[in-house]
Amino acid sequence: MIKVGVLGSGSMGSGIAQVAATAGHDVVLVDNNPNALNQAKSKLAKVMDRLVEKGRLNAQTASEIQGRIHYKTEIEAFASCGLVIEAIIEDLGIKQSVFASMEAIVPADCIIASNTSSLSISAIGSALKSPERFLGIHFFNPAPLMKLVEIIPALQTSDAYLDTAKNTIDSWGKLTVLAKDTPGFIVNRIARPFYSEALRMYDEGVADFATIDWALTEIAGFRMGPFTLMDYIGNDINYKVTETVYASFFYDGRFMPSFTQKRLADAGYYGRKAGKGYYDYSGDASMPEPDKDLDLGQMIADRVIVMLINFAADALFMNVASEHDIDLAMTKGVNYPKGLLTWANEIGIQNCVNQLDALFEEYREERYRCCPLLRRMANNGSSFFN
Ligand SMILES: NC(=O)c1ccc[n+]([C@@H]2O[C@H](COP(=O)([O-])OP(=O)(O)OC[C@H]3O[C@@H](n4cnc5c(N)ncnc54)[C@H](O)[C@@H]3O)[C@@H](O)[C@H]2O)c1
Repeated sequence: MIKVGVLGSGSMGSGIAQVAATAGHDVVLVDNNPNALNQAKSKLAKVMDRLVEKGRLNAQTASEIQGRIHYKTEIEAFASCGLVIEAIIEDLGIKQSVFASMEAIVPADCIIASNTSSLSISAIGSALKSPERFLGIHFFNPAPLMKLVEIIPALQTSDAYLDTAKNTIDSWGKLTVLAKDTPGFIVNRIARPFYSEALRMYDEGVADFATIDWALTEIAGFRMGPFTLMDYIGNDINYKVTETVYASFFYDGRFMPSFTQKRLADAGYYGRKAGKGYYDYSGDASMPEPDKDLDLGQMIADRVIVMLINFAADALFMNVASEHDIDLAMTKGVNYPKGLLTWANEIGIQNCVNQLDALFEEYREERYRCCPLLRRMANNGSSFFN
């Protein structure tokens, strides 16, 4: 079994190290901050104790998993690794320089990967002398719990390295989907309207946060409403992802961020971690009550769902991923109640087109433009997965 290297022992790196060690690999976890390594080690010990308490692991296995992870501060420790996954700060220049140094240390056939959420895999790979062994392996937070992993070949990645990397991650019990190296890959691209259309409706005065959250959970069936979820993720982080995706799409209007969210981020109203976001999380505050008007709720749910379907259809149209992988990504990466293309079939493709056309007719804005694939399918009477 190959030795696995993980660079960066923050939220993602520590989780990825746990996944690889649980799959039986010896893992070298490197961070240039010794405090981060200590924190990762004690966090893992707590997670393992909890799993033993719940009866999910026996004490011996838990101690073996912990014993397989070796904590180091220097990348020289990657010298005998067969796969290294990087999860450090989201900065292209820093990642490129770290990879250039790492390449001189790891074996010639070591697969090198980045867990970046938003940077171009091909741009990071350009810093390597042998970029054919470099790719994106994008885990979701928390890595041990989230089943989905997006596999993103760079323009330079060879098929042989891609297959080996995908098979390795599959063997860890993850569900892998293949994504083209485009902004946001699959999940962070298609999910944008879940937040942006909710914010847009709030900005227009259609409904308040609590009512929009109620409509999307109780009527549409999402696990969390968009405002509760943004407060959970952090408005600083969620805003930054939206802004990065928007800029990476050359400022395509469909991806435009919201001033409301920017102002919350500006003010430090990050959500749960700040005690205040769209909602107030201070001790004595009570949650606002939604307006449970069913017609209003249905309109809100329909508008967000059809926008998500339009984004999913566009990702398929642009060959970002296959139909199967697009639906798998949204159900396993962000726990959507249904795959969006499956949902489109259920609603009816013509019905989706009609809803989008009505929005476009009213607003004349790029964001409501119906994807040509949907229109073509409506004209042909076809559906997804045929
Ligand atoms: N947090 C998420 O939800 C999430 C999800 C998927 C992907 N990602 C991506 O994963 C990466 C890491 O994100 P995170 O949330 O775990 O960050 P984090 O801030 O929690 O952890 C980053 C760690 O990297 C270390 N580090 C920074 N520069 C280093 C260097 N040059 N050498 C060694 N260690 C270094 C830091 O000390 C820190 O411990 C980013 O690229 C991010 O885009 C994050």
